[in-house]
Amino acid sequence: MQNKSNIFMTFGKMPIANNFINKENFKDEYFFEMSVAFDEKKSLFQLANFPKPTQMFNENYKFFTNSSKYMINHFENYSNELSKEFLNNKSKVIEIGCNDGTLINFFNSKGFDCLGFEPSKNVADLAKKKGLNIITDFFGPNFEEKNFKKQTNLICAANVICHIPDLENLIKGIDYFLSDDGIFVFEEPYLGSMFEKVSYDQIYDEHIFMFSISSINKIFDLFDFQLVDVLPQVTHGGSMRYVIGRKNKHKKSEIISKYLDEEQKKKLDTIESCLDFKKACELSKKMTLEKLNKFKADNKKICGYAATAKSTTVLNYCDIGNDIIDYICDTTNEKIGKFSPGTHIPIVSMNYFKKNIPDIAFLFAWNHKEEIFLKEKKFVENGGTWFSHVAL
Ligand code: SAH
Ligand code: TYD
Repeated sequence: MQNKSNIFMTFGKMPIANNFINKENFKDEYFFEMSVAFDEKKSLFQLANFPKPTQMFNENYKFFTNSSKYMINHFENYSNELSKEFLNNKSKVIEIGCNDGTLINFFNSKGFDCLGFEPSKNVADLAKKKGLNIITDFFGPNFEEKNFKKQTNLICAANVICHIPDLENLIKGIDYFLSDDGIFVFEEPYLGSMFEKVSYDQIYDEHIFMFSISSINKIFDLFDFQLVDVLPQVTHGGSMRYVIGRKNKHKKSEIISKYLDEEQKKKLDTIESCLDFKKACELSKKMTLEKLNKFKADNKKICGYAATAKSTTVLNYCDIGNDIIDYICDTTNEKIGKFSPGTHIPIVSMNYFKKNIPDIAFLFAWNHKEEIFLKEKKFVENGGTWFSHVAL
């Protein structure tokens, strides 16, 4: 699939980021050219080409919300905050991309009438097992859910709106389900944070868009909706929560124009900032490889810590294979025993990490560093060193 706009850089051939694979499938692994573009009209950072959604979101999906204790806690707070601000005891709630049901379950436990949309069958089944009301499909306006049609008080989402290529169809779905004064709230990795940290690994097949306040403001304004509030989040290395309502139904927070001014100053609304980012990515790649090669020259053993989707971009863009990284340890049973997409580094359990302690651990889940550093204190006490392409 393709987005037509100004292409400004390519990360080269990329596999499906979450397609941790078996040896016998190496020969027919799928790759696409991961180039990125900027649509100046919408101030929208996006992938220029990407796989079909069903190639990424299906019964073999390998990301589980409950893989981070910090994120479970974050979603409990998210549900508490939204319930307090927007809901009453008769409210109806929809979640888009509910995965294993972590967030929607918090709303369900509070007694709201809840519905989740989740196209990846394996994770949707986990949510159903919790007794939740789930539609195993991509969200959109084409569902006969009489209970929720034009009656939903809150539609919420996290880390999924940037996965949806057809934004017009998404907004049609919001219009179809949302009540007259209902609210649509979602939080996604923030373009400004990615530029600041040079965390280019936020770019992979699933992340079709990297939103800013400027882009969200412009996109919803094209429809009968408007941005009414924003709230920065620390999750996933810097995210932004966006609150959307129908036009002229809610008071617009004054903070929005302040943030828009700031984004303009940083040129986040034009392709100029992207050109600086491109240079920063190239420098980051050079420095990462120099440091890894130096570790190798010094006979250091290097492993990867956490087989994140993000790691697929770092490893393939920098061309790092198992000549440099011996293994990647991870907590996800569905990834252990398989190999990293494209670069084919073995994925092992945390037990293996404990028994085969390396000198250097490349932290691919740098966004969860507080949680991970806390449980891996011994690694540093015993002389181990954390490493990453972003500042830790
Ligand atoms: N919200 C969770 C999961 C994020 S991963 C969290 O923040 O942890 C994104 C999830 O959205 C995946 O489970 C994927 O299957 C689902 N998804 C992808 N496209 C979707 C769409 N168009 N509609 C609904 N869900 C979608
Ligand atoms: P995350 O950064 O949440 O997502 P993504 O894959 O989208 O980049 O990382 C999730 C992965 O990190 C998942 O495979 C589990 C792993 N992980 C650990 O192995 N240990 C941990 O303590 C945490 C928090 C995650």
